[in-house]
This record gives sequence, C-alpha cells and structure tokens, in this order.
Amino acid sequence: MISSERQEHAISSRLVSPSEVSVDPSKGNDYDSFAGAYAAANETNLVNAYYERPAMLALAGDVAGRRILDAGCGSGSLFAALRDRGAMVSGFDASGGMLELARQRLGDGADLQVADLGSPLPYSDDTFDDVVASLVLHYLEDWGPALAELRRILKPGGRLIASVDHPFAINLIHREAGREAECSYFDTTSWTVEWTVGGYTALVSRWNRPLHAMVEAFTGAGFRITVISEPEPDPAAREMFPEAIAAEPRFLCFLFFVLQAE
Ligand SMILES: C[S@@+](CC[C@H](N)C(=O)[O-])C[C@H]1O[C@@H](n2cnc3c(N)ncnc32)[C@H](O)[C@@H]1O
Repeated sequence: MISSERQEHAISSRLVSPSEVSVDPSKGNDYDSFAGAYAAANETNLVNAYYERPAMLALAGDVAGRRILDAGCGSGSLFAALRDRGAMVSGFDASGGMLELARQRLGDGADLQVADLGSPLPYSDDTFDDVVASLVLHYLEDWGPALAELRRILKPGGRLIASVDHPFAINLIHREAGREAECSYFDTTSWTVEWTVGGYTALVSRWNRPLHAMVEAFTGAGFRITVISEPEPDPAAREMFPEAIAAEPRFLCFLFFVLQAE
C-alpha cells in the first residue's frame, strides 16, 4: 500500500489538508512548472517505470499496426514504447511543458497536440484502434464528457486501456493519516498532495471515486469492461528496488481497466 509520506524514488508525497489547498487553488496541477523534474522521476521510479507502464504495455499486448492515441501522454514514455512495438501513435496533453519534453523524446514528426481531456478532442470519429489513458482520468471530477469523446474517436470494438489511482488505496492513505472524514470511500472527493520532486514542490489535486462510480461511468459511456487488473510490479523491480519490494512485494497503488467500445 502506498502511504501519504512514501518516498516514490524521486517523488515524495505529503497529504495536504483542504484548508491549505483553498489558500490558492490556482497553484495546483501546474505540470508546466515541474515538467522536467516530474518526467525525470517518472522515467526511473518504482510506481511509473516498474509498475504502471509495464502493466499498461502488458494489457495492450501486441500492438503492431494498431492506431493508438495516448491521452494525457505527458513526456511520452508510453507513446515511445508503443511506437517501438510497431503501433502508429498520436498523443495529447494539457501541459505544453510536458509536450515539449515528449517532442524532444519522440522527434519533430510525432503527432502531438495540446488538448484537454474533458473537452472536444481534435480527432475524427472512429479513428483509433486503442486509446491509452495512463493516470489522467483521475484529474477529472466528471468522467462523462471525456469518456464520450474517447468513445467517439475509437473505432467500434476499439479498446480504452486506462490506469487510475486505486480508490481503496486513496481511502487508506486518508485513514492512516486519521483523516477519513476528508475521503469517504463512497463519495467522489477531491484530494491533494504536495509533491516534492527534483527540488521543486507542487500541489497536485485529483478526484477519488469508488469503484462502482467508475464502472457506471464506463458502461454509461458505451464501454464494456473486459479486464480489471491489480497487477504485480515488473520483475525487474526486485533488483532495482530490493528493499521496497521485500517490504511490499505487492501493493495497492493504481487500478487498471481494459474497456471495449460497444
Ligand atoms: C501523472 S501524469 C502522467 C503522464 C503520462 N500519462 C504517464 O503515465 O507517464 C498526468 C498527465 O496528465 C496531464 N493532464 C492532466 N489533466 C489533463 C487533462 N484534463 N487533459 C489532458 N491532459 C491532462 C498532465 O499534464 C500530465 O502530463
């Protein structure tokens, strides 16, 4: 289980009270301001590089020849891995700073755009075989408009492969901090952490929602759930993070879905 104070390799995370956040909410989720530090940590840390990304790639399977959209692509690590496996990949992100790093990684020819998940997206109907959405849906309070757009741009039968904060893990973080009143499992709740990464400190707010609310959002948008996954870390994590893996060979952190557009 991740804890509120856990060192995630280069990202340390502290649960912040709602009163602290309300001081200046505009300072939250400003990925532009810490893009380089975040991307560097994401590249090598346990939860992104040795847990989340390998799990997404395993769920995607053989992607050769598939047309894939990376929604909230960040600095492009998953985009690059899918492209290396023979997929034709496009990506978008709300942060121009993250996209600049993606462009440096992927080259000028890469199809990258600034766009906002939750607003109309700049892609035609029935374009993609798959959409991958790594750790981005939980930035949205209402998943309805985002899922409707993703359903629109997926071909019928196409897949949405998504990872989000595990709702029970987030609830447990609040319980362990004695702050369960701020995050009832059954409510959709905004919660905030202070990330310190590469000498920069940033407020990051996400929306936690119970599993049944996720299922209702997916099915209500025209998706059929084919996989719900709580994977193990990549085997290489044992060598890279021996103490962390010895202490917690499996941990609750993110929840993964494979959904089929009906
Ligand atoms: C935790 S990072 C994950 C990046 C990448 N998917 C990965 O797994 O390495 C979250 C990303 O989502 C982006 N993001 C947050 N809200 C977004 C939105 N509404 N539309 C598009 N991108 C968004 C952020 O700018 C950031 O790059």
